[in-house]
Amino acid sequence: MSQKKEAKTVASLIEQRLERTKWFLEDRFGMFIHWGLYAIPARGEWVRSIEKISVEDYQVYFDQFDPQRYNPREWAKAAKDAGMKYAVLTAKHHDGFCLFDSQLTDYKSTNTKAGRDLVREFLEAFRSEGLKVGLYYSLIDWHHPDYPAYGDQIHPMRENEKYKRDPLHFDRYLTYMHGQVRELLTNYGKLDMMWFDFSYGEMSGEKWQATKLIEMMRSLQPHIVIDNRLEVNGERSSSVYSSNPQLYAGDFASPEQIIPPQGITDEAGNSIPWEACVTLNNNWGYVAADATYKSARTIIRKLVECVSKNGNLLLNVGPDAQGEIPRPSLQILEEVGRWMQRNGESIYGCGQADLPKPDWGRYTRKGNTLYAHIFEESIGPINLSGLAGKVKQARTLADGAELFVSLPWNAKLYPNDAFINFAKPESYSYPLPDSNDTVVELILEDNAGREQ
Ligand code: GLC
Repeated sequence: MSQKKEAKTVASLIEQRLERTKWFLEDRFGMFIHWGLYAIPARGEWVRSIEKISVEDYQVYFDQFDPQRYNPREWAKAAKDAGMKYAVLTAKHHDGFCLFDSQLTDYKSTNTKAGRDLVREFLEAFRSEGLKVGLYYSLIDWHHPDYPAYGDQIHPMRENEKYKRDPLHFDRYLTYMHGQVRELLTNYGKLDMMWFDFSYGEMSGEKWQATKLIEMMRSLQPHIVIDNRLEVNGERSSSVYSSNPQLYAGDFASPEQIIPPQGITDEAGNSIPWEACVTLNNNWGYVAADATYKSARTIIRKLVECVSKNGNLLLNVGPDAQGEIPRPSLQILEEVGRWMQRNGESIYGCGQADLPKPDWGRYTRKGNTLYAHIFEESIGPINLSGLAGKVKQARTLADGAELFVSLPWNAKLYPNDAFINFAKPESYSYPLPDSNDTVVELILEDNAGREQ
């Protein structure tokens, strides 16, 4: 009896997750924004931990923080023009500094020269561009006096015995942390997503009083989509990967700086919602010296890769101390946007095609519409393996131009395959109209490739 009941609860947990993540899985592409005091030292958001900087020595950045050019409307416009549908801002990162007007701390943007609730302005700006909004909230806190310091794995004062803390006082941190989450979910209208970061070692799950936290969150905003990091970090799998998730498992897996080779499925092979979070260069927070930017072409193709494996891409920008997204990031976003404007249909609401990965690129699919993302030019007609007689129509998505579906003389040895080409004669080779990714929309016969 009790086992039956349990099975029912698990089934409904998974059903609720499906319901909650519907928009998320449709939207596919979001903007991650890492911004805080660490934009001033400009050596990344881990600068305190890496360089073992005390709260006192870090204070100089609090005193200087004055982002004169913070205009979240411009951020929102950049995100929207890039084809992104949602955005997640660091309301608090590991350094503990809050970009919102929390009543529970003085360590917040309203007490700096900025004098503003930066989270509120972010939310208003992005919502008014029609984007969904989420907040990143660090479970870790290197500023709070009751967070484990000496002996912790990553705290800036991990080697400093003066920072030995009474573990019994950790409860006070939990009260603070739960209280801030409550503030965010109470004072800022509807939030679409909450992005916790992160669990490690014994700092995981019930150590955060995760069940209680999730229950509170669900009672305030039942629809809110939550990541899986109350249980893990980007390194490990968690119960959201299984068909028997914890109550605090969250709604999606969050692989970091990697695209899972086979997508993510549970033991039974059912797809699990996931979102790869990825930086544009090699840092989350602003790093002046990091010019290792990925090209727009790479971003476009990696977004396609995520979607072809039923996943999302959350692409990061790290605004500078003045509040501006770095120019190289904006340039990449603009180019991605130009492609998305014409080819977004092959991304939004799309997923895995249930066909083997083609040599020339990848497929994404929505119902009977298959999108061939062609990255590599072919010699002769372009091969659609196993699709002979199954393609009703082929068009370049960007301009609607008709392609030829045929079996020209040089393809006759492969009667089980379909072949497409951009022009006649169909036996020739032609350059790709878009060298970043030429998308060909293929209307298939009903259920082609999904027959069994
Ligand atoms: C890591 C880092 C953090 C970053 C996050 C994004 O967990 O600690 O700085 O915010 O990844 O996924």
